[in-house]
Amino acid sequence: MGVLGRFMVGLTKCMPRIFVAGVARRYVAGKDINSAVSVMKKLSAEGACFTVDVLGEEISNLDEAQFFIDEYDRVLDAIVNNGLDANLSIKPTAFGLLIDEDKAYRNIERLLRNAAEHDIFVRLDMEDHRVTQPTIDIVLAMHAKGLRNVGTVLQSRLFRTTSDIDAICEKLGGHADFRICKGVYLEDESISHSKYQPIVDALNQHVDQILDHGAYAGIASHDWPIIEHTLAALEARGMGPDCEDPRDGCAGSRAGKGPGYEFQMLLGVRGNIRRRLSKAGHRTRIYIPYGERWYEYSMRRLDENPDVAFHITKSIFMPWTNRR
Ligand code: FDA
Repeated sequence: MGVLGRFMVGLTKCMPRIFVAGVARRYVAGKDINSAVSVMKKLSAEGACFTVDVLGEEISNLDEAQFFIDEYDRVLDAIVNNGLDANLSIKPTAFGLLIDEDKAYRNIERLLRNAAEHDIFVRLDMEDHRVTQPTIDIVLAMHAKGLRNVGTVLQSRLFRTTSDIDAICEKLGGHADFRICKGVYLEDESISHSKYQPIVDALNQHVDQILDHGAYAGIASHDWPIIEHTLAALEARGMGPDCEDPRDGCAGSRAGKGPGYEFQMLLGVRGNIRRRLSKAGHRTRIYIPYGERWYEYSMRRLDENPDVAFHITKSIFMPWTNRR
């Protein structure tokens, strides 16, 4: 992407906030939980289920973590009271992981216990390489306490992901539950792939690896070669929409889950592919970000990965490439 991507990021940053708000409306469900609930109710008709993300991440003091604790309590209430087919996505740094690890653990454990009362799963989003191991450690520690309603995200661009999958599966067996994605953070070439094809190849291999371990696979990609590979990998293992998960040892807590796998996509991105998968009977989950801090969030994503600016610009000028 290089120069073009950086140019678009620069251009977007010069745009008036109101213009950015117009674009963001497609990708962010609104400023508060009520807007997110309306969006989910509407999209339920397309056969989707959801994972809800309160926008924001790394905080500068522990008082800020309280905001996320309270807001995720409101999300849980909203899911239960509205009978939504939804779970939670949280960023561990928003709960204080980089400030006070013990406090972050306590904050996350409390949320997991509340969510478990309603059989709701909590996904720990994966942030940059500084917190890869600490995030995995939280998942392992919570499972060790008997809290099974938690899993994390692994990023296929990172070299370490192959051994992370093995290590987590060895510890958690059929309770291991992954979201596997390319990884939005552009990491140093000493620890990660940086070119398109090696990342796609790695992700496809990780899908196979997760399925072969008997773990749950949330395939988070809008990229057709990955979806196509996954469909073939499922078929080769006798897995699919109309079958029970045939793999041995899949004893995990699978409330609200598909038969060993699901497809996950971001709100506003490639709805046509998502609807096609859903129509074919696959479980499809939409990532629903909402919150007051939509502008800062959008700008940070652009800074981290100029590809995002390119995708967004492409969907404005070539809407047929990316249906809502
Ligand atoms: P690719 O980037 O090649 O996109 C394929 C096509 O999809 C593009 O051509 C474009 O049409 C469309 N597209 C993709 N992204 C778009 C966007 N942002 N806006 C508009 N169009 C877009 N990463 C991470 O590091 N940690 C995490 O926890 C998560 N969590 C997560 C959850 C879910 C549900 C998804 C779908 C993705 C993530 N990601 C993530 C992001 C992920 O790592 C990756 O950066 C994006 O999904 C883009 O990669 P694709 O595989 O979709 O392919």
